[in-house]
Amino acid sequence: MADFTSNYWTWYISAGVLGGIIFCFWLVLWQSKDRPEEGEAKPTGHVWDENLEELNNPLPKWWLNMFYITLVFGIVYLILYPGLGTWAGVLKWSSKDGPNSQYAREIARADEQFGAIYAEYMKQDIPTLSQNPEAMKTATRLFINYCSVCHGSDAAGQPGGFPNLRDTDWLYGGKPAQIEQTILDGRQGVMPAWGQVLGKDGLFNVTEYVLSLSGRSNNINAAAEGKVKFQQLCSSCHGADGKGNQAIGAPNLTDDIWLHGRSQKSVMATIEKGRQGRMPDHRTFLGEDKVHLLAAYVYGLSQGR
Ligand code: HEC
Ligand code: HEC
Repeated sequence: MADFTSNYWTWYISAGVLGGIIFCFWLVLWQSKDRPEEGEAKPTGHVWDENLEELNNPLPKWWLNMFYITLVFGIVYLILYPGLGTWAGVLKWSSKDGPNSQYAREIARADEQFGAIYAEYMKQDIPTLSQNPEAMKTATRLFINYCSVCHGSDAAGQPGGFPNLRDTDWLYGGKPAQIEQTILDGRQGVMPAWGQVLGKDGLFNVTEYVLSLSGRSNNINAAAEGKVKFQQLCSSCHGADGKGNQAIGAPNLTDDIWLHGRSQKSVMATIEKGRQGRMPDHRTFLGEDKVHLLAAYVYGLSQGR
């Protein structure tokens, strides 16, 4: 309930909620008074379908009682649970805040139930773990929950800079320790923008050179000119041969595998405007044992499992 920045909203909400309940009480009370005797109902003057007359019969008792029950339920609920502005409720229930929140309790229960299993997995090295079918079943579920939004549920990546994790092409390296490091602490790929530096012709030439690295250039002369610029501006990160550098996540440009689109247009846009790929860190969010399991899963995929 710490989301409120001023008392005003607490009062506004409390007044609205309590006012609403009082109004409903009054309405139900008013409706249950002055009950005419059986057979004394008078027509209200409303008539439908020629002869269907509306009478002023009172609401049935059971119906009114249901209203009273829901009103009492509402009040009891508002005393026990947060609902009136900053009032935290007698039970101090919270969905996510504090060690006693519902979320914290569910996590604690899960840890108690599965903690021993994860601890056991933690002892195994990644290649061994990646061959354990039981462990990989759990890992698949973790992957679907936490990774598939970006990498796809089959881990084959998505357009827009989300890499395929099934292949053997790695931005940051495919050794078990490298994969684990990527997931634990995240990665940040920074490709600077070169449009200003290169100018229109320079941009075209360098793009042709980059395409020529995977045998796709249509303009050999432009590519030859682009090569000079590439050696000056790009080789420090992508290497003189264009094969990339896993220490900083600079992709291999010779393998015809593209993080940001394969077409001449997308390659050119990448070089002109730059790209920033961010893989979030998961050390605190998931904990080291779950990350270990996920690293084994990703490693297994790249081994064709
Ligand atoms: C918010 C989107 C997002 C989520 C969620 C995400 N990733 Fe990533 N991941 C990325 C991006 C983007 C990159 C590429 C980073 C770059 O371009 O430098 C990446 C890179 C990676 C790499 C490195 C691939 C390589 O070629 O070296 C691995 C491994 C990886 N992610 C695994 C995971 C796992 C496992 C999870 C689930 C715990 C996960 N990712 C969740 C966006 C995400
Ligand atoms: C500071 C290091 C650095 C320099 C210098 C650099 N790049 Fe990059 N480049 C990167 C990184 C890192 C990425 C990956 C971006 C990401 O993770 O999203 C990248 C991505 C690319 C891509 C996209 C590859 C793909 O698979 O989609 C192309 C093309 C590219 N760079 C070309 C160039 C060219 C041409 C130059 C020189 C004009 C250049 N880069 C200079 C670091 C660099």
